[in-house]
Amino acid sequence: MVQYHRLIIHHGRKEERFRVSVEEVGSLKKAKQKFLSFLFLTILSCCFIVSPYLFGFSTLSLLDSFSRENEALSSYEPAPVCLEVSNGTICCDRTGLRSDICVMKGDIRTDSASSSLILFTSTNNTTTPQKIKPYTRKWETSVMDTVQELNLIPKHSNKSSDRVCDVYHDVPAVFFSTGGYTGNVYHEFNDGIIPLFITSQHYNKKVVFVIVEYHDWWEMKYGDIVTQLSDYPLVDFNGDSRTHCFKEATVGLRIHDELTVNSTLMSHGNKTIVDFRNVLDRAYTHRIQSLVQEETKTKLDSKKPKLVILSRNGSRAILNEDLLVKLAEETGFNVEVLRPNKRTEMAKIYRSMNTSDVMIGVHGAAMTHFLFLKPKSVFIQIVPLGTDWAADTYYGEPAKKLGLKYIGYKIMPQESSLYYEYGKDDPVIRDPDSLNDKGWEYTKKIYLQGQNVKLDLRRFRETLARSYDFSIRRRVREEVPHLFVS
Ligand SMILES: *[C@@H]1O[C@H](CO)[C@@H](O)[C@H](O)[C@H]1NC(C)=O
Ligand SMILES: *[C@@H]1O[C@H](CO)[C@@H](O)[C@H](O)[C@H]1NC(C)=O
Ligand SMILES: *[C@@H]1O[C@H](CO)[C@@H](O)[C@H](O)[C@H]1NC(C)=O
Ligand SMILES: *[C@@H]1O[C@H](CO)[C@@H](O)[C@H](O)[C@H]1NC(C)=O
Ligand SMILES: *[C@@H]1O[C@H](CO)[C@@H](O)[C@H](O)[C@H]1NC(C)=O
Ligand SMILES: *[C@@H]1O[C@H](CO)[C@@H](O)[C@H](O)[C@H]1NC(C)=O
Ligand SMILES: *[C@@H]1O[C@H](CO)[C@@H](O)[C@H](O)[C@H]1NC(C)=O
Ligand SMILES: *[C@@H]1O[C@H](CO)[C@@H](O)[C@H](O)[C@H]1NC(C)=O
Repeated sequence: MVQYHRLIIHHGRKEERFRVSVEEVGSLKKAKQKFLSFLFLTILSCCFIVSPYLFGFSTLSLLDSFSRENEALSSYEPAPVCLEVSNGTICCDRTGLRSDICVMKGDIRTDSASSSLILFTSTNNTTTPQKIKPYTRKWETSVMDTVQELNLIPKHSNKSSDRVCDVYHDVPAVFFSTGGYTGNVYHEFNDGIIPLFITSQHYNKKVVFVIVEYHDWWEMKYGDIVTQLSDYPLVDFNGDSRTHCFKEATVGLRIHDELTVNSTLMSHGNKTIVDFRNVLDRAYTHRIQSLVQEETKTKLDSKKPKLVILSRNGSRAILNEDLLVKLAEETGFNVEVLRPNKRTEMAKIYRSMNTSDVMIGVHGAAMTHFLFLKPKSVFIQIVPLGTDWAADTYYGEPAKKLGLKYIGYKIMPQESSLYYEYGKDDPVIRDPDSLNDKGWEYTKKIYLQGQNVKLDLRRFRETLARSYDFSIRRRVREEVPHLFVS
């Protein structure tokens, strides 16, 4: 069962259409179950070091959300709702297109058995009960249907003995779900980690994260990042039947746009996506230092710029990758081919990206790792037939906002494996939009799962040369900045 959605948003004067299609949620769940048994076996056998990235899914590369002839769900300007919440009240901001968020203050106690947060008040009728699903894909009903709903219940009581606090917290809580599409690296960053940063960074780590639909593997994979945002252990809401008491709680996460942080929408401070990247850098510093110490490998010639290829196999692979590597080396690059799999540690991917000048990859969820590139690096996304809109919206535009030099390399029909399968006159080649118009199943089967790329290296050489020149000029500028002061 494949779900398909259209949302018509009336946004000011402008009517914006936003359409996304999603991968079958059930199959994702099954995949997760498989991973859980894998985790179990791994722990039993203890054969190798458990790494945070071990149970990641980035290589599944199901870019579930997809669209055509669209405009993106634009960034919106929420009224500053619920910034000041008075004691004993619940305030919900439901003006966002991508997420709802509720803030409550007072005597808050959890009751996971009834999926509730109870706000005890000493006066009657001060606030109304609310329901909220703390996940950031509000417009996609099919996935929201799978997300656990929380009840926020005000309760009058003059006896504080109503519910005894098992755990008393002196700092605020942020409640969010790691259900939905969690399991795909694009969604993990876009719907989870970046919104978590947006919602919680101003607490300066004095905040407790309470996770609804918690997974051990998520904590292992993202623990390094989470500890940069919170000094406190995570609370597994459903798995912990104790009553946790807070004085303040935010339920749900704020989100801006695709894979970005918009500083003008930050209610506390003017943080940007670069600040988010700095959090990643701090998160991986320790691990990378120990990796460097373990190493005996000879160092690469650091005078040359480094190019990393994020390699896929299965679908959307580069069929002549070996020749591409040779060409890049001839152009003057040190080349690293990265084939992240389920066991690749996140810190190792970060390290490869953070030391690269150029990243090349074919459109897919693994492109999310552009977030690991240093600003002013070059990101070349190879855009297969029929994927222009998604490539640009999900990765191209966000990459520019991080300060990368983005190059979308749109392939010619002859560079697609589909050209040889269907022939040059087939609508699949001539008019991908007409196929995309037929529905997500067509897009997915033909363009995402059925396509490989054989680069025309005479054509691609230009892109490589441009990237090389750009990298050299950037290095010179950084190494001898005084020459460029006017
Ligand atoms: C940030 O949000 C504001 C307000 O919605 C918008 O006008 C602006 O274009 C956004 N900036 C970026 C870089 O998207
Ligand atoms: C807030 O409300 C709770 C319960 O309604 C009360 O115990 C607490 O003292 C109040 N705090 C402040 C700062 O008014
Ligand atoms: C508040 O409501 C409770 C139950 O609904 C009732 O017992 C109590 O008398 C009310 N108190 C006031 C001050 O109205
Ligand atoms: C509380 O609200 C209910 C219905 O909204 C109303 O009937 C009742 O009179 C209110 N009580 C107080 C004490 O305001
Ligand atoms: C709160 O106190 C009032 C009077 O002191 C009493 O009538 C009422 O029943 C109490 N309510 C609860 C819920 O204990
Ligand atoms: C952000 O705010 C800080 C302090 O308020 C200020 O120093 C800095 O210049 C601001 N940065 C931007 C990009 O506005
Ligand atoms: C990333 O690269 C920068 C600049 O080369 C370096 O200062 C930083 O320590 C690196 N980050 C990590 C986590 O290794
Ligand atoms: C992809 O590569 C892995 C090992 O790198 C291999 O096990 C797997 O079979 C490959 N998949 C395809 C479809 O070629």
